[in-house]
Parts: sequence; C-alpha cells; structure tokens
Amino acid sequence: MTSEYLWWQDGTVYQIYPRSFQDSNGDGVGDLNGIRQRLDYLQGLGVDAIWLSPIYPSPMYDFGYDISDYVDIDPVFGTLAEFDQLVAEAHARGIRVVLDMVFNHTSHLHPWFLDSRSGRDNARRDWYLWRDPGPDGGPPNNWESTFGGKGWEYDAGTGQYYYHQFLKEQPDLNWRNPEVRAKLMEVLRFWLDRGVDGFRFDVVMSFFKDELYRDNPPALTGPTALLRAFDRQQHLYDRDRPEMTDVLAEMRALIDEVPGRAAVGEVDDLDMALRFVGPDRLHLAFNFDFLLTRWLPRLFMEAIQRYDGKLPAEAWPSYVLGNHDRDRLATRFGAGPFSDARAKVAAALLLTQRGTPFIYYGDELGMVNTPLSRDEILDPPGKLYWPLYQGRDPVRTPMQWSADAYAGFSANSPWLRVHPDYANRNVAAHEADPASVLNAYKALLAMRRSSPALRRGTTRFLVKRPVEGLAYLREAPEQTLLVALNFFGWAVDLRLDGPLPANHWKLRYSTASTDVPRIMGNRMRLQPFEAVILEPV
Ligand code: NOJ
Repeated sequence: MTSEYLWWQDGTVYQIYPRSFQDSNGDGVGDLNGIRQRLDYLQGLGVDAIWLSPIYPSPMYDFGYDISDYVDIDPVFGTLAEFDQLVAEAHARGIRVVLDMVFNHTSHLHPWFLDSRSGRDNARRDWYLWRDPGPDGGPPNNWESTFGGKGWEYDAGTGQYYYHQFLKEQPDLNWRNPEVRAKLMEVLRFWLDRGVDGFRFDVVMSFFKDELYRDNPPALTGPTALLRAFDRQQHLYDRDRPEMTDVLAEMRALIDEVPGRAAVGEVDDLDMALRFVGPDRLHLAFNFDFLLTRWLPRLFMEAIQRYDGKLPAEAWPSYVLGNHDRDRLATRFGAGPFSDARAKVAAALLLTQRGTPFIYYGDELGMVNTPLSRDEILDPPGKLYWPLYQGRDPVRTPMQWSADAYAGFSANSPWLRVHPDYANRNVAAHEADPASVLNAYKALLAMRRSSPALRRGTTRFLVKRPVEGLAYLREAPEQTLLVALNFFGWAVDLRLDGPLPANHWKLRYSTASTDVPRIMGNRMRLQPFEAVILEPV
C-alpha cells in the first residue's frame, strides 16, 4: 500500500453552495470573497478540498447550473482576480479547489445557443440537438425532462425542436460535434492553468444520447402514477451511451498532465459509477446510495457491501451523505430532539468508510431543511410540483455562522431565508460546545487524517445481521481500528459474530462516553446513539 497521501483518496471534500456560504458585500448572496474569509474555518474543520457549485456567469434559471460563459465569474460571485486570490489562499492552507463543470448543457442565453438558434444554416446549429417535429407535429420522440414536462422545446423561428434534459433554459450540447468537444476541453485547460485541482462533472452520464433518437421504453417496475413522467421510462436512449468512453479518456489525460489533480463524476447509480471510473476514465464517481438509505444499520451495511463487492480493485470508492439536491441528512434521518445525536452517528459512519467522503456545507452543524412557504420557493422544480415537492431551496439556505442577524451570513436579507434555529445552531455556538455536531466532525476528520486504517484499511463487519447498530474493523498493515455505532436512543448490547482481534482496547473516540464500551464475551455495550472508535492496546 502506498503511504503517499492523496487528497482525493485519503482526504475529505467539502461542498460549498456559493450563493449560501458567506456574503461579503451585503447583497444577500454569497460570494468568492466570502468563501475566502472563511478559509480558516475550513482549515480548522480539517477538510482537504472544497468543491464549489457553479460560479460562472449565468442567468440563474437553475442557479448557476445554466452557464452562459464557461471562462469567467458571475459578478454576483466576484471576479477572476478574486477567484485567483481564493485559490492562492486556499492552497496556502493546504485546501484544494474543485470546480463544478456543467458540460451536458449551457444556458439558453449562452452565445453558442443564441447563434445556434438564429438559423438552420448557422455554423453553430449543430452544436445543440435540433430535430424536426414528429409526424404529428409534436416532439421528435418521447424523451422527458428531469425537471418535469417534455424534454423538447419547439423553436418557432426555425421550425425545429431542441432537446433539454433539464429546463428549457438549459439546452443540451451536441457532444458528437468535434468543435463542441474541443471547446469544452479548452475550458478545462483554462481552469487547470489557473491552478484548480479538479472538477466535479455534472450529469456526466448524459453527454451522449442515442444517435437514432429512439424512444425510451416504459419502466418495467414501479408505480405508474409517479410524479414525473421521466420516472416512468427506462432511460436507455437519452443517456449513458458508449461514445462516452473516449471522451472520458480525453478528459482524464488532460487532468492527469499535472499529477495530483482529480475529477469526480455525477452519475445515476452504482452500476453507472462502475463504468465511469478507472485509469482511463474519472478518478471518482459519486456513490449516492447513502442518500437513499433509511436509518437502519442493516441497510447501510448492505449498501457498503454491495459497493465493495462491485467496485474493481483499481477503482476508489466515495460516499455522499448530503448535497444541494437532496434533503438534509438530519431531516432525512429524522428531525426532532435526537437529530443532532443521529447526525453525529451519521458523521462517524461517513468518516470511517473506505472511500472519499463528501460533506455538504452545514451538515457539520446538523442543519435541517428550512421550511419555506410557496412564495419563497425559487427553485423551478419546486415551483412546478409544490406542495408535493418543494424543490431544493430548503437545503440551500444560508450557512449559520453565529447568532447575529442573518446568522452572520450577510449584513442584509439573504436570497433565501435563514433557518429559524440559527440562534442556537451556528458555528460559534457549536465551537463552544464540546458535545456539538461540529466538534464531532472535527474530531473524526482529524482522526481520519492521522489514521492509515480509516483512510485505506479494508472493512470487516462484525455483526452479521445488524438490528440496532454496526460494528466493523478497519484493517491496514500499520493499524487496526474497531468502529461501533448505535443507531438508536437506548443502550444496546451488540452481538459480535466474529472473534475480536484483541482483548484489550483503548478509546480513540466516542460521541457518548469517556470509557471503553464493556465487552463481555461476544457482547459489546453501547450507550444511546454512541459512535465509538477503539484501537487495540
Ligand atoms: C445536477 C445538479 O446536481 C443539479 O443541481 C442541477 O440542477 C442539474 N444537474 C442540472 O445541471
């Protein structure tokens, strides 16, 4: 095993949603200078890299995931000079910077699309996916938009439809066009030359669609009354096409020109993740299984085992407990009086896995979804599906720094309301409380950094049919650690099925006790919501 510390493999990545992290100029929207002012906090937290959701010029129909210029900064976030300063100051603290690259689509106001739309014979017409109407004059095929409604928009000016996997303000690029491909590779080079350490590729599985534009067949299973028609189809033809292999190799070669850079791809599921990582593909693909797992130890164990079993040896795992698209973990696992206790166990679960952990800003405070009224919702799918689905605004509200006005996020009213619990749930309060969620994250991150077993060790589960909690060994040549997690609010005796490799243990960390748990025969006693890490003596 190599002992070289690789940030994207041994380290932890922290996702910042720039609009909501720190506002430095009082316009109610977070910005790059704000992030820069908070670098000391991030260094103290102990993360290795920050991933910034899109910061490029955008009309903000999808809050930056609709880019109108790939090689500049939106004025709401700052300037290129401020970006350079952020990168330099992050690097000075040992923090890498990862940019979000949205290459499946642009904004409908990107000059490329304006050209493309201007006429059938425009030189950029073929940069997007234009098709004649179907025989009935309707859309060319049955592809749906992920955000609801048809995936095709009719353009009266030129008498054709264009395809958009997301909003109609986010037309999909044509990756089969060599000029498009060359341009986007230039974009990567532009940011790499500016010193960024890697990329997060948005919906990387979607770049290529079926060349013949065949209809997707209906889904085989699942309720027929699902909210989105999108979910009632098998996505055979609108994504994950074989042509992608070659593009991945090209992107990888570019990124690898300087050692120590890395890319992570957003894909739909685990099987896809396997196709997108490898020596000629991406370094990492998100594993979203933890986002979909209910708070039951058996389900988490199975998710880990399923992943470990599938991933080829040369591919490195990742784990995600929260992001800007999903309910806050503290909300998913049950808001209420025990949500902080659960959030600490969840932190221990995430930070003791073999695989790069991704932390979503604010999850280290146990932030919960912010309740918003209909007229406060800005996210387009939330507007469309309210009240059945509120969209993603409730998980994108301002970071809670202090008990000051607007939680110390801004001097003025923020673009989304601050969660009303900020007076108690904020960085300042958590720093002062040794039992806070934040201090649990700090301790666990510090331990992960210094522990070869937590970073690279293999995982061996000790409770074969877990009901109340998990126990597992992380074993590396240099070190073994035992992790045990009680998922519930009562004391439990975990029954260990395998023999323990040692009789005497010392406490390295516990969320609930200052003593080594009592181990009697094959039973280990854990306190309510206790997460414990032990090392043999
Ligand atoms: C996936 C991103 O995570 C999401 O936030 C965005 O809306 C879509 N891709 C479209 O870019």
